[in-house]
Amino acid sequence: EKGEYRHFMEKEIHEQPDSVQRTLSAYLDFVNGRALKQDVDFKSIARIQIVACGTAFYAAQIGRYAFEKLAGLPCDVEIASEFRYRSPALMPDTLAVAVSQSGETADTLACLTWCKGLGLPTAALVNVHTSSMARESQYLWPTHAGPEIGVASTKAFTAQVAALLALAVTAGVARGRISADEEARLVQALFESPRLIAEALQMEDRMRDVAHDLSRATDVLFLGRGAMFPLAMEGALKLKEISYIHAEGYAAGELKHGPIALIDEDTPTVALAPLDDLFEKTASNLQEVAARGGPVVMIAPLSAPTPHGTGITRIEAPDCHPLIAPLVYAIPVQMLAYFTAVHKGTDVDQPRNLAKSVTVE
Ligand code: F6R
Repeated sequence: EKGEYRHFMEKEIHEQPDSVQRTLSAYLDFVNGRALKQDVDFKSIARIQIVACGTAFYAAQIGRYAFEKLAGLPCDVEIASEFRYRSPALMPDTLAVAVSQSGETADTLACLTWCKGLGLPTAALVNVHTSSMARESQYLWPTHAGPEIGVASTKAFTAQVAALLALAVTAGVARGRISADEEARLVQALFESPRLIAEALQMEDRMRDVAHDLSRATDVLFLGRGAMFPLAMEGALKLKEISYIHAEGYAAGELKHGPIALIDEDTPTVALAPLDDLFEKTASNLQEVAARGGPVVMIAPLSAPTPHGTGITRIEAPDCHPLIAPLVYAIPVQMLAYFTAVHKGTDVDQPRNLAKSVTVE
């Protein structure tokens, strides 16, 4: 039931403080500041190969940054429909991981089965715990988003990101990369995300205003660096899916290698700019966009400086630990797509041509 909400998507966006909290609690011990031990032996694994489609693919890419940074664990992420047919060369001791809300996506499931056939250890990070992928894999990594009804994924995405970040901490501890003090700090930072997600939900009025402007655009660029890059791609996917506006997510540093040619006064750029060690670089990319007359919406905390240039609209996001920025910034990104679609009057929960679960290739 939608209750007080107009659409399931809106309801599911608002459920995220709870769904992230539930998911984190399955992987982390908040009271003792510890990452829970997993059956997977992260010490004996040489690589992680993640396969996924769509939104789950972007969640996995955020996970990759964390596995490599926190655990020194090489991690590859690929869309399942490519991995499946290109005869990939895999090293032994590779853990194959499928990330999927439904656990039924045909291409992702086929990759999992293929990896299992090679004798690799397999894990399924799924929201439906009785799904085909859950049954097919050796290890089950559940997300606890609860049933997701809206075709456009929201709370399943943040649950996937939360689980992957938590697992990266577990892997870092298991591999001797994270001290007990650091573990406690990271666990505490992760558990701040439900409160900060709730705070980000307060950005609603601002996002509605921005969406009003975006709904007139035919093309929108999303930019970010680090873990904000996959989130930029997720933002673009969400906007495409439900508002039917063409959007692209780019790594901010790639701008000058092509996409900057798209910039004009009718092409808005949405920048995801948390105050991390990449902020200055992103800010200078935004100046380049502004200098070419492109309207910029910069989502950043109050503590971040304003880049020079006209046409830069700032939207204040909560201050947060860089590790959880993809969880916190997912909220304005989802709201932007949601309000744009509502403004355009499209069918938010049942976008044209899309199915919730893609069980055919
Ligand atoms: C995006 C969306 C799709 C799914 C994709 C994978 O909003 O819903 O891109 O993320 O079809 O689905 P699952 O996660 O069920 O494998």
